[in-house]
Amino acid sequence: MDVVETIKRQVDPVEYIGRVSPLQKSGRSFKGLCPFHTEKTPSFYVFPDRGTWRCFGTCGEGGDIFTFVQKRENTDFRGALRVLAAEAGVELVAEDPRKRSHNERLAATMSAAVEYFQRCLREPGGVEALRYLREKRGLEERTIETWRLGWAPDDWRGLRDFLRNRGYEDRDMIGAGLLVEGENGREPYDRFRGRAIIPIANERGEFVAMGGRGLHGEEPKYLNSPQTEIFDKGRTLFGLNIAAAGIRESGTAVVVEGYMDVMGPWQAGFTNVVATMGTSLTENHAAMLRRYAKRIVLAMDPDAAGLAAAERAGGLVLGIESPERMGQAVRAADTLVNANQVELRVAPLPAGKDPDEIAREDPERWRAAIDGAATYPEFLLKRIMAAEPVESPMQARATVDRLRPVLAAVSDPVERAMYVQRVARHLGISEDAVLERLRSALVSRPGPGRAQPIVNLPLNPEDVLLALLIRHPGLRQFFRNYPRSLFSGALEREIFTRWLGDEDFARQSGDDDPVVARVRILEKKRLPPLTEAEARQAAQEKVREILRDRIILHQAARAEELADAERTLGANKVAELAMAAWRGGMPGEDDRSLAEAVIEELQLGLSIHRREGPGAV
Ligand code: UTP
Ligand code: MN
Repeated sequence: MDVVETIKRQVDPVEYIGRVSPLQKSGRSFKGLCPFHTEKTPSFYVFPDRGTWRCFGTCGEGGDIFTFVQKRENTDFRGALRVLAAEAGVELVAEDPRKRSHNERLAATMSAAVEYFQRCLREPGGVEALRYLREKRGLEERTIETWRLGWAPDDWRGLRDFLRNRGYEDRDMIGAGLLVEGENGREPYDRFRGRAIIPIANERGEFVAMGGRGLHGEEPKYLNSPQTEIFDKGRTLFGLNIAAAGIRESGTAVVVEGYMDVMGPWQAGFTNVVATMGTSLTENHAAMLRRYAKRIVLAMDPDAAGLAAAERAGGLVLGIESPERMGQAVRAADTLVNANQVELRVAPLPAGKDPDEIAREDPERWRAAIDGAATYPEFLLKRIMAAEPVESPMQARATVDRLRPVLAAVSDPVERAMYVQRVARHLGISEDAVLERLRSALVSRPGPGRAQPIVNLPLNPEDVLLALLIRHPGLRQFFRNYPRSLFSGALEREIFTRWLGDEDFARQSGDDDPVVARVRILEKKRLPPLTEAEARQAAQEKVREILRDRIILHQAARAEELADAERTLGANKVAELAMAAWRGGMPGEDDRSLAEAVIEELQLGLSIHRREGPGAV
């Protein structure tokens, strides 16, 4: 994994920055005195959702955890990398042979454990589990064998004793997540007890983790291996080692959520199915699948609860709760498709049924659903149109409004035009009428007072801008005087700085250089072919987007603060304070920060409107 990403995942910016400057929760963000200039009222914010910080006071500095360390320790990117790697306990050398042999040992330990559990399934103690797999889950012998299913007896140290007898060491069993460390110096004990075992292999077929299912409705339903040095959920697809051939042959990878939803269809002859193990589909997953097939079909229940939690993983979530969620989901899907050059489709499965059941009970229906899967926007449009009656103009307008976020999130104009056409036909109105109503959604941006949810979409304007710059070295002259702080991330700043300085900026250092690694990824981003002038225009548009985003971020933080104040002090008190402040009255010491927030809120509201005007930067 990318060291920079690993570090960002492990170091909590609120905790880390909070050690330097005490922070207080304020809505979704945290607030404190700026460590980089002297101030009496806090204007320094940390946004944990984004992993960024910014001072909205006089110094106006901002960035990510790396830029924070750079500034604080007065060092360069490499220096910050060293400091934070130590903080996160991450090794900087990419392929340390010691580390490699360590991982090999963990995988070997895991493999021996799989063997043990498999054996236990065939012993008298495994009778109940075997019956469960065969009778309750309808698995045939060849399925149980191929997927190497097993049984973990309900003992505290059965696996540990078995592995120790064969010379495996406690620390590797702990490292592989097979043992849990005992408290107060007690002996470590088996993690998996009294569960049917489903081994999880990586792409190469090496076992890296396992899932254990209770037979009697225990909580949790599945107990899984923790994240270890050889297992990362976001980079593992259950079944890929076995499904790879089927995916390549059929040209399609079907993605489901559950273990059983892979093995059930497999037994029914659908051998191109893999599972995300209950999380969202990440860019990493898509990139992995792309090596076998271009077409990815999601066969997940979009109504399923619990998916929202997966949003944090930064992957694709099928959200249908609200128009905003739909828009977000379509944008995320759009990004994933563009970044990986895949064809992403959603299979319309009957609600409330698992892929496991459908594939086995009604294989024809399964086949039809996979073959006829729609693009994600198409899938949503169909659902919405089917759900909304269109007997009156008012209803038609309401339908278009519900469809708007979905249509607006489709980046390709041709594709969008196709959907517009379909919507118009369905509603029996002209395409122009749909477009007219859509256009306002395409230009209007979130206005003041409406706090935007802060989400980490995979392709942000900073990335797009960098990709553009890398593709068009001719823009160098134009960007010569732009401040590096245009970019929030230290890595992005470093790339920008090197790009400004040199034609061949990413070629000189080795591949273990995180800057080079990121540049490689950016180089792969698909961009439309642009002339120099068009590229410059596109780049300027991205700069605008970055700045606007920054204002909205501040706005959202302030709006939440005000909402908090209104809740605790009452709206009247806040309004009174605002009036007094507007008239130039001097608020008392206690109310000063709140008064400032109110004034800022009003002024920012104005400046956002100004920024919407033509020609503004
Ligand atoms: P589901 O709850 O949909 O289970 O979770 P399922 O796959 O249909 O399981 P069966 O058919 O009842 O046995 C989907 C996936 O989410 C993960 C597992 O990977 C599961 O297959 N999950 C679910 C967990 O890791 N832990 C849980 O407690 C539940
Ligand atoms: Mn199921």
